[in-house]
Amino acid sequence: MPESKSAVITSALPYANGEIHLGHIASTYLPADIFTRFLKLNGIEAYHICATDDFGTPILIRAEKEKQSPEEYVARWNMRDREDFSSLGISFDFFYKTSSKENVEFVQYVFKKLREYGHIYDQNVIQFYCTFDDKFLPDRYVIGKCPNCGAENQYSDLCEKCGRVPDQILDPKCAICDRTPVKKESAHYFFRLSNFGDRLKEWLSTNPNLQPEVRNYVINWINEGLQDWDITRDLSWGVPIPLAEAEDKVFYGWFDNHLCYISSLVKFISDKGGDGKKFWNESQVYHFIGKDIVYHHYLFLPAMRLGIDSEYKLPDYMPTRGHLMLQNKKISKSRNWYIGLKDFTLAFNPDYLRFYIASVVTYSQDDLNFDFDAFYERINNELIANIGNFVNRALSFTQKSFGGRVPEPSSIDGSLEKELGATVDDVNKLLTGNEIDRALKRIMKYGSYMNQYFQANAPWANKDTAGTTLYVAVNAVRSLALLLEPFIPFSCEKIWRQLKLSGSVHQQTWESAKDINAIPTGHQLGRIEPIFRKIEAKEIEQWKGKLGKP
Ligand code: 2FM
Ligand code: ZN
Repeated sequence: MPESKSAVITSALPYANGEIHLGHIASTYLPADIFTRFLKLNGIEAYHICATDDFGTPILIRAEKEKQSPEEYVARWNMRDREDFSSLGISFDFFYKTSSKENVEFVQYVFKKLREYGHIYDQNVIQFYCTFDDKFLPDRYVIGKCPNCGAENQYSDLCEKCGRVPDQILDPKCAICDRTPVKKESAHYFFRLSNFGDRLKEWLSTNPNLQPEVRNYVINWINEGLQDWDITRDLSWGVPIPLAEAEDKVFYGWFDNHLCYISSLVKFISDKGGDGKKFWNESQVYHFIGKDIVYHHYLFLPAMRLGIDSEYKLPDYMPTRGHLMLQNKKISKSRNWYIGLKDFTLAFNPDYLRFYIASVVTYSQDDLNFDFDAFYERINNELIANIGNFVNRALSFTQKSFGGRVPEPSSIDGSLEKELGATVDDVNKLLTGNEIDRALKRIMKYGSYMNQYFQANAPWANKDTAGTTLYVAVNAVRSLALLLEPFIPFSCEKIWRQLKLSGSVHQQTWESAKDINAIPTGHQLGRIEPIFRKIEAKEIEQWKGKLGKP
């Protein structure tokens, strides 16, 4: 458990221009949600913060195409994202937007401070300009060859092959019309990232909580030399640069978006009457991200915080995970090799997706895979055959044989309490270390143990021990509901209601999962029915058949 009594958990901010898909969920939002739920059960004042990433050229162009103002356009996606996330039980304490008044003000404040401290300079730069489209062409609007690794067809602001931000893209083309752009002069502001190499290295090498493999390759980037960073865009949609001579210019989205982690938390805490800055600085800070945005989070973000004298502390953890493949192929919306979150949660119990992803998501940069056959197996043969089976047998047998009243035990074998205690401690340790997949496996092991106990004691055949077996089993169902709450919260709430316990499973304490006597003799259970429905093979075939079709 973290030493601090409070925690801020952020998930990378989704761009406000497209629906949330399974890839986003696996690398970032589900791990962050599981982790936050776990901290909350442990009595930590933990807040999961997120927002839509509203600015940038692609969003402006899409809004124009759809004949909406950018404000209306991003508001629509903000609403849709909230709905999609909540359909999967991804629960944010606060979900805001980078275009909020609070964020705009905070970004401008940080810029002024960085400038005062000498970390900003201005310089005339030659920008790509498309004379056909009559536009400056920032970032995604120029495609060319990466000067670092030679990969073709890369955006000028990020090479997807080598993960670096190219300094000067080679063989540039306008992404709108494919013509070769001209160059035109414009006054731009730069952040002196090159000032921060030593301090970043020091921070990276002395923070034991960062994943070593990420830390090592980021240190290599620093050793190769850091380039100062152009933070200006000649656009109308963005945080305005707060200088009279910079009218019609805004900040680059990656200058403002991560500051929204802070501005949103501060707003959330002040709305509750607290001091947001103090809360941030006294909490453990976790930024959950996917590996495609390592450069921005391990270099830009900490350098900017260092540049304002760490007025807001740097992150303690940055859990960074790989990409999700779909049937072993890269997810692609244009090739329809893609599953939108909403479609999936309409078709299946959302806990099935949570369970499957949690069981494959390692704490590493390795890519993971969504495989429909494995999904079918995992749900039917593990979640339902193990957990569903035990819960239903324990509760319906108590219903049938004791009228739903928890019977009186005689002597309880000490090894049962020991096994439960060891499970809770192991899972605690694994989740504290972000080992989500391993924690879930450990709970499943406990589920198998309890199934064996139930089967071996056969309460249907042994009348004299049936009371003890069921007393133990009903209490174990309660413990499982608590242990599994971070993973499958909807089902655990259903179990809680069938147990007819007071309050909600989401508000219990983790430690109480160890209590093998929490539900007393004589307690009346609620209405018992199966928690899960098996997936049918034909449903899986239908989904597989849809992939890749126009
Ligand atoms: O890559 C992305 O999808 C970005 N919108 C992530 C932003 S995270 C942040 F730092 F705000
Ligand atoms: Zn063009």
